[in-house]
Amino acid sequence: MKSISPITTNAWKELRIHFNKMKNIHLVDLFKYNHNRFKNFSYVFKSNMLIDFSKNRITDETIQILLRLSEEMQLSQSIQDMFNGKHINVTENRPVLHTALRNFSHEPILVNNIDIMPKIRAVLNKMKHFSKSIISGVWRGYSGKKITHVVNIGIGGSDLGPRMVTEALKPYKNHLKISYVSNIDSTDVYSILKNCDFSSTIFLVSSKNFTTEETITNATTIKNYFLKKYCNLKDMKHHFFAVTANVQEALKFGIEQNNIFELWDWVGGRYSLWSAMGLSIMLSIGFNNFCNFLHGAYDMDIHFKHASFEKNIPVLLSLIGIWYNNFFNTQTEAILPYDQYLYRFPSYIQQCNMESNGKNIDRNGDKVCWQTGSITWGEVGTNGQHSFYQLIHQGTKLIPCDFIASTISHNPIENHHKILLSNFFAQTHALAFGKYFNNNGENTSCDHDVNHFSEKFKYFEGNRPSNSILFKIIDPYSLGSLIALYEHKIFVQGVILNIFSFDQWGVELGKVISNNIFQGLHGGKNYKNDVSTQGLIHFYNTFKNSMN
Ligand code: F6P
Repeated sequence: MKSISPITTNAWKELRIHFNKMKNIHLVDLFKYNHNRFKNFSYVFKSNMLIDFSKNRITDETIQILLRLSEEMQLSQSIQDMFNGKHINVTENRPVLHTALRNFSHEPILVNNIDIMPKIRAVLNKMKHFSKSIISGVWRGYSGKKITHVVNIGIGGSDLGPRMVTEALKPYKNHLKISYVSNIDSTDVYSILKNCDFSSTIFLVSSKNFTTEETITNATTIKNYFLKKYCNLKDMKHHFFAVTANVQEALKFGIEQNNIFELWDWVGGRYSLWSAMGLSIMLSIGFNNFCNFLHGAYDMDIHFKHASFEKNIPVLLSLIGIWYNNFFNTQTEAILPYDQYLYRFPSYIQQCNMESNGKNIDRNGDKVCWQTGSITWGEVGTNGQHSFYQLIHQGTKLIPCDFIASTISHNPIENHHKILLSNFFAQTHALAFGKYFNNNGENTSCDHDVNHFSEKFKYFEGNRPSNSILFKIIDPYSLGSLIALYEHKIFVQGVILNIFSFDQWGVELGKVISNNIFQGLHGGKNYKNDVSTQGLIHFYNTFKNSMN
């Protein structure tokens, strides 16, 4: 992966000029003068997913220049480098191969000249047998009871992804109860200690490096409680499992070798749900559904790898994102699933995008002078409509939105789903085309001349962009392809913005300082702090002592 400053490319310069032309053009006009806009700016993926990006402030020319940008930034080469296991995670000197975890081709994937596919298949097979034995009730707890409850202990990528997918695929779920503990706040683990029948519960300690403070503290608390209240060390093997790349630490924790599910350093934490980190998903939906989930992602990988860029969905969505972020200065983007089961999808994509592309140093080691990762946020529709959509419609900020829904509800009741989708379609329409509502509640077009004082407040100027992603149904396959679509979108943005997307050094400093402060709070040597932090610690101690 070469280091090229995007702003020195010809395409970037062209985009600047093009932006001056585009910034005042309204979507109303773009649609008026091109009746083929929907046809030209939408794609269907595997007869299952429609992606409509026509309601964006783009023309054919915009796309052509953006495609030239991707060429100048040597995107094709970077895609090949990722799939072929080159060490594109340069600051950690590792390949990036979450795609290998869903590779259904028979081709080998080499890391240090060794094919990693046999290892991947072996772990998948181990997960298969284990999940079968838990689901079928063959595996028993220390007292002989069947397992009915699975608790995943992990944080960040070892929590958000599995938790989101388990929620999203609830219609495919079996009888097992699946819980997640992530926060160091004892309230989180308390709910498990309080409500759990330990004799029928298994715990998955999910941590790639097995040193993450939150996960190890929570796991230790649960282990100690378990040993104190229920049984002895040798019984732990019936209940404690690890998912990790650090087998030694898991063994030290007291987990049996056979109870360890391995992953590898070339799987990034936030890209790990395809690996053994997805064990809670497999336990929830079974092996076959998990394989369909992997297949959905694999098919998106094939599309991403082989489709020409002008028809390549992740590439196009990524380029359009760069267009807004760097030329319209949009700062944020909203993910708006119109599907209750996808309610955790925005926070999952938030980590994926913001931890990957929240960087300010380019691949050359220089400070960037362009925008990198967008702030990603969102909420399920229609709830968001009654909360923050006001600002999207009439605020001073331009917020590109992704609307996501499925045609068929898993729980059809009367007209609910039609009303839900009417809202989805209406929002994308209103955002794009705007309206003026007169006092009789009638709509007039957005170019209405707004003169009266009271009219000004009811005017929707429109011209606010959105993508629409519509599935037949959210099933394991389609969810797999949706996640892979976003993963690749994020990757492409990292390549073009000339940053390293697969490290996360920005989360380290806070961890180190917290450790020092903790020693101080614990009666150790006080760490030298700024006056504000010192003041906070002082009041913490004062409040605490006043409660004793
Ligand atoms: O917060 C940083 C981070 O390293 C994330 O990237 C990762 O997903 C999370 O912590 C958990 O890491 P681990 O799985 O190693 O416990």
